[in-house]
Amino acid sequence: MQSMLWDGQSLSLLNQTKLPAVVEYLKCTDYERIGEAIKKLEVRGAPAIGAAAAFAFVLGARQSAKSDRLLFLKDIESVDGYLRSTRPTAVNLFWALDQMMNVIKEQSDRIELPNLLNLLEQKALFIAAEDKRVNHTMAEFGAALFKEPVSILTHCNAGALATVEWGTALGVIRQAFSEGNIKRVFADETRPLLQGARLTAFELQQDHIPVTLITDNMAGWVMKNKMVDAVIVGADRIAANGDTANKIGTYSVALLSHMHQIPFYVAAPASTFDFSMATGEQIPIEERGEFEVTHFQGIQSAPDGIAVFNPAFDVTPNQYITGIITEYGVLKPNYQEEIKQLKDKMEEN
Ligand code: MRU
Repeated sequence: MQSMLWDGQSLSLLNQTKLPAVVEYLKCTDYERIGEAIKKLEVRGAPAIGAAAAFAFVLGARQSAKSDRLLFLKDIESVDGYLRSTRPTAVNLFWALDQMMNVIKEQSDRIELPNLLNLLEQKALFIAAEDKRVNHTMAEFGAALFKEPVSILTHCNAGALATVEWGTALGVIRQAFSEGNIKRVFADETRPLLQGARLTAFELQQDHIPVTLITDNMAGWVMKNKMVDAVIVGADRIAANGDTANKIGTYSVALLSHMHQIPFYVAAPASTFDFSMATGEQIPIEERGEFEVTHFQGIQSAPDGIAVFNPAFDVTPNQYITGIITEYGVLKPNYQEEIKQLKDKMEEN
């Protein structure tokens, strides 16, 4: 299953707001439509948002293609600014846009515009290809943690749909399953938008990986009854000390795991680390509209005028994380030091 397909002229996005009932691709021919798709969660999941934004940047540059260099750079700034404003928490969005802006900074006064546009497309294709590659590498490191068949609980969707292909947390699960080491996956439904029920359950079922759907408030009882051996989740942003932002509800799952002495793993590529943020306290948390909470799949489920709090993410403090699975290996506490070494390795590459 492909979350996005680039044909050289447009980006087709698998519309994740319609899954699993309808499998429909949205053909986006301009950067504004991709930005809108990111805002509306038609494409979602940190690495997928980053890759989609990179392709949006290519379209935005082509839409401008002013022969005057200064006017072109002005347009680029507004494309970049618009895409950065779509969602605040997943750092992969900003990471991918930084990569695209670096091409502009390094090349815009050295080469002709058509060549620059080609370079931008090459960069976006590279970002997408790298995402696939790192997911597979990460999956191998993660699967090696399990030497015998286990049952895993996951929250939200960190699968093929949330990336360009294969997935982070679900990539690890896919790899471990292929090695005979997954008995069953418990998928939290993930209120309010049901990424677990609609997307994770769908993806795993398609791959014939045994999956049981539970509502979010069942996780503790499932753990208490020894039905889960480990938890694996994805991440939207990881601070320099290992504090991890992920879908709202992840923090509660981490606390439950801690209480039940169940290992709690985060799987995320290096592009999800934000070395500029010392702790998770600095991570911006997106707040979304109240309609998502007052209505369940479009049907009103709360009284008119009720006050609503709807943070889309929470932050799990590093002390509750057993390991962070990356394409460079599995980081273990002490995260401060391990993440510093990760940064050094990334700079060597
Ligand atoms: O609001 P969403 O659906 O974009 O949130 C997605 C998550 O929280 C995922 O767990 C995270 O982005 C990791 S995806 C590999």
